[in-house]
Amino acid sequence: VPTAASRQEPTPGSPTSFDEQATVFDLRVGLPEEDCRRIAAAVLGMARARPGDRMLEIGAGTGMIGRWFLNHPVSYVGLDVSREMLEVFRHRPGIVRAGLVQADGAQPWPLPDASVDLVFGSRTIHLLPPEHVIGELFRVASEDGAACVLGWVERRPESVKARLSKEMQRRVRERGFPVRSAGGRRFLEACRERGAEELPKTVVARWPARQAPRQSIANWRAKEGLAGTVLPPGVQEEILRELEAWAAETFGDLDTARESEEAYVLEGVALHGVT
Ligand SMILES: C[S@@+](CC[C@H](N)C(=O)[O-])C[C@H]1O[C@@H](n2cnc3c(N)ncnc32)[C@H](O)[C@@H]1O
Repeated sequence: VPTAASRQEPTPGSPTSFDEQATVFDLRVGLPEEDCRRIAAAVLGMARARPGDRMLEIGAGTGMIGRWFLNHPVSYVGLDVSREMLEVFRHRPGIVRAGLVQADGAQPWPLPDASVDLVFGSRTIHLLPPEHVIGELFRVASEDGAACVLGWVERRPESVKARLSKEMQRRVRERGFPVRSAGGRRFLEACRERGAEELPKTVVARWPARQAPRQSIANWRAKEGLAGTVLPPGVQEEILRELEAWAAETFGDLDTARESEEAYVLEGVALHGVT
């Protein structure tokens, strides 16, 4: 584990790391256990997975969802660039059967050609370079038919979180930095342009959500970088102060929580013919 002294200062514009968030990740953006079980079952259902199928999860993280694939008769490999996130996964009870690999999905994947029947990514694909991932996806996909399923949390566009995110991202982009967010649909569209076939969308869970603007801003303040991008010193705070002023004007105050609804959705494609 890098110490404060040995850890290099990340370059502005580069992707943010999840290492520092590993121990609080599940508290911050955890999903209920029952939903995670259902997501795993729904992913396998969408992909029409068969016993013995080989699956790869990109950005497996703390295994919040990935651990539940181990209850099914598939061969699971979870890949993540963050050693700390994978450590949390490894320390879950009953993880002996999981193949967890620390590797950067933005580099060649450590898997042979045509060796995977299903690739899954939850809340991750937008963090990776799409062209590279599509190349690797088509390379590792079994020629007998494979699926790629992506999952993410969908928010209503008028919700506090969605409106604030949009404003925050606009300010990051305006300063010339890349925004790494919500690229799942674009990614699947690019797969379809290369001949993949759309799988039916599945909404696995819906839940009521309440958020006050101050809470969203405080969550961003506690993280390194914004919109998945490392920013130069001071810029993150400058953007968050602007957002506070924007939110106070837009919502009337920062502390009133507003009701909305969120959903965990799965979308995907079948590659090399029907699975
Ligand atoms: C938002 S978390 C999602 C974790 C998990 N899939 C979930 O839904 O709970 C994103 C994960 O992607 C990983 N990640 C980001 N960039 C990556 C890369 N280039 N290669 C592999 N994993 C990456 C992060 O370390 C993190 O664990």
